[in-house]
Amino acid sequence: MGSMRAIVFFFFFISPLNPISTATVPPLPRIKAVNLGGWLLTEGWIKPSLFNNITNNDLLDGTQVQLKSASVGKYLSVKNGGGEVILANRDSASSSKTFILWRVDSTHFQFRVFLKQFVGVNASSSAVAVATMPGLSETFEIAKSENSVTADSDGNGSWGNDDPSVFLMKTIGTMRGEYQLTNGYGPIKAPAVMRKHWRTFIVEEDFMFMNDNGLNAVRIPVGWWIASDPTPPAPYVGGSLAALDNAFTWAEKYGLKVIIDLHAAPGSQNGDEHGGGRDGSVEWGVAGSGNVEKTVAVIEFLTRRYAARPNLIAVELINQPKAEMVDFDTLKSYYQAGYDAVRRHTSTAYVIFSTRLHGDAGGFISFASGLDRTVLDIHYYNLYLSKFDGWTAQQNIDYVNNQRANELASITNSNGGPLSFVGEWVAEWKVVNASEEEYRRFGEAQLNVFGRASFGWAYWTYKNVDNHWSLKWMITNGYISLVKTSNIAVC
Ligand SMILES: *[C@@H]1O[C@H](CO)[C@@H](O)[C@H](O)[C@H]1NC(C)=O
Ligand SMILES: *[C@@H]1O[C@H](CO)[C@@H](O)[C@H](O)[C@H]1NC(C)=O
Ligand SMILES: *[C@@H]1O[C@H](CO)[C@@H](O)[C@H](O)[C@H]1NC(C)=O
Ligand SMILES: *[C@@H]1O[C@H](CO)[C@@H](O)[C@H](O)[C@H]1NC(C)=O
Repeated sequence: MGSMRAIVFFFFFISPLNPISTATVPPLPRIKAVNLGGWLLTEGWIKPSLFNNITNNDLLDGTQVQLKSASVGKYLSVKNGGGEVILANRDSASSSKTFILWRVDSTHFQFRVFLKQFVGVNASSSAVAVATMPGLSETFEIAKSENSVTADSDGNGSWGNDDPSVFLMKTIGTMRGEYQLTNGYGPIKAPAVMRKHWRTFIVEEDFMFMNDNGLNAVRIPVGWWIASDPTPPAPYVGGSLAALDNAFTWAEKYGLKVIIDLHAAPGSQNGDEHGGGRDGSVEWGVAGSGNVEKTVAVIEFLTRRYAARPNLIAVELINQPKAEMVDFDTLKSYYQAGYDAVRRHTSTAYVIFSTRLHGDAGGFISFASGLDRTVLDIHYYNLYLSKFDGWTAQQNIDYVNNQRANELASITNSNGGPLSFVGEWVAEWKVVNASEEEYRRFGEAQLNVFGRASFGWAYWTYKNVDNHWSLKWMITNGYISLVKTSNIAVC
C-alpha cells in the first residue's frame, strides 16, 4: 500500500516539471461548426431563386450545349476536339460534340470547345475553332424560341451549308456559381441582387440560434475576389467583405469561432460551381498562370484583416482541389507559402490544409507534421459515388461506424501531426424515402464518429432549400440535436 501511494505522488509531482507535457500543446479545439454555404459564395442549388430574374437563365456561363442542324439533321462537332474546322456530320451527340457557353449578354454567346478554343468564322467564311480568346467573329446571337438557335456570325454560310443556319439546341449541363449569377444579371442589376442576398440570407439572429443550439464555430466559404472588395474584377460585385466583417462581429457576440475557408481560388481548383470559374475548366496551379501567387496574396489579405479578431480560429487555404487536375507537389508548395502568409500575421490561428478530392491524405500528414498548429480537412459524404447506390439506411450507418471511423482514426492518430477536421458532412444519403427515425440515426452516427476528430467537424450547410442539407432545419425539426439535455441532471 505504502509503495502504491509513493508512485502516485511521484507522478503527481514530477509531471508538471516535464516541459514536453505542458504549455507547448494547446487544448484540442473540439470545433462543432456549421458551414455558411451559399452566402458569400453563391451556389445555385442552395438557393435557386437567386437566378429567377435572369433573362435566358438556362443559358449561363458554363452551360453545355449540343447543336443539331435543322436542315441536315446532324450534330455539330469540332474536328479533333479543337484547333480545327467545325463539321455538321455527326448522327449522334456525345461529349465531343458539346460546346460550352460564355455569355456576353442575354442574347450573345461564345462557344468553347473541348480543347478550349472558341468557335468562330475565319476570313474565308469557314466555321472553325481556333481562337484562344473570343472576339467579334466568335460571338453569336441566340434568338427565336428556346429550342432553336440562329447563329448569325460575321460571315455567310459559316456552317458549311447555304441553308438558313438554324440549329436545335439542347442544354445538357449547367453551372450556377457566382460568376454565372453576376454575369447573368449583368453589371446594372447584379449589385442590388447580391447585396440583398448577403444582407438577408444570414443575419445576426442566426448566430444566436447556432449558439443556443450547441454550435461553437462557423466555417465561412469565400471566393478569391473578396480580397479586391469593394472593386472586384467584373462580373463580380463588391460588398461581401463587409458581410464577412459582420459575421466576425456577430460570431464574437454569440461566442462562436470563425474559420475562413477559401472555397474558390483564381482559375478554379476543381471546376465546380463552388470552386469559382466561368466554364468548369481548372486553371489553378497551371504553370505560368500566376494563380498560386495570387492565391497566397488572398490568404495574406484575409489573415491580415482578421488576425486581431479574438475569434479567428483558423484559415483554410483552399477547398477541395481535385487530384486529377492539381498535382501534389504544386499543392504542397502552395500550402507552405500559404502557411507562411498566415504566420506572418498570427501565431495562434490554425492553418487548415484540405485533402485533394479523390486523392490520398497520407502525403499531407508528414508535410504538416513539421508545421505548428495545422489541421487536415477531409470531407465525408455518403453520396456522389456509385458505390452507395441501393444501400439501405443501416448499411450507410454501418459504413460510418466502421470504414469512416477507421479512416478518421488513421488520420487522427498521427503522433505530433496535424489535427483532423471533418470540414463537411451532411445527414443526407442516397436512401430513397428514408424515415425520420433513419435520418436521426444517420445523423447521430456521424456526430458520434466525427466527434472524434481532434479539431472537430462542420455540417454542410446552415441554410438550404433542400431540408436535410440545412442544419437549421434539421435542428428546428428535431432531426439533429447537439444539446444533450439528459446530462443536465447528473452531478
Ligand atoms: C425577382 O423579381 C421579383 C419581382 O420583381 C422580386 O420580388 C424578387 O425579389 C426578385 N428576385 C431576385 C433574386 O432578385
Ligand atoms: C478557314 O478554315 C478552313 C477550314 O479549316 C481553311 O481551309 C481555310 O484555309 C481557312 N481560311 C483562312 C483564311 O484561314
Ligand atoms: C450574305 O449573302 C447574301 C446573299 O447570299 C448577301 O446579300 C449578303 O451581302 C452577304 N452578307 C455578308 C456579310 O457577306
Ligand atoms: C417514395 O415515396 C413516393 C411518395 O410516397 C413514392 O411515389 C415512391 O414510389 C417511393 N419510392 C420508393 C423507392 O419507395
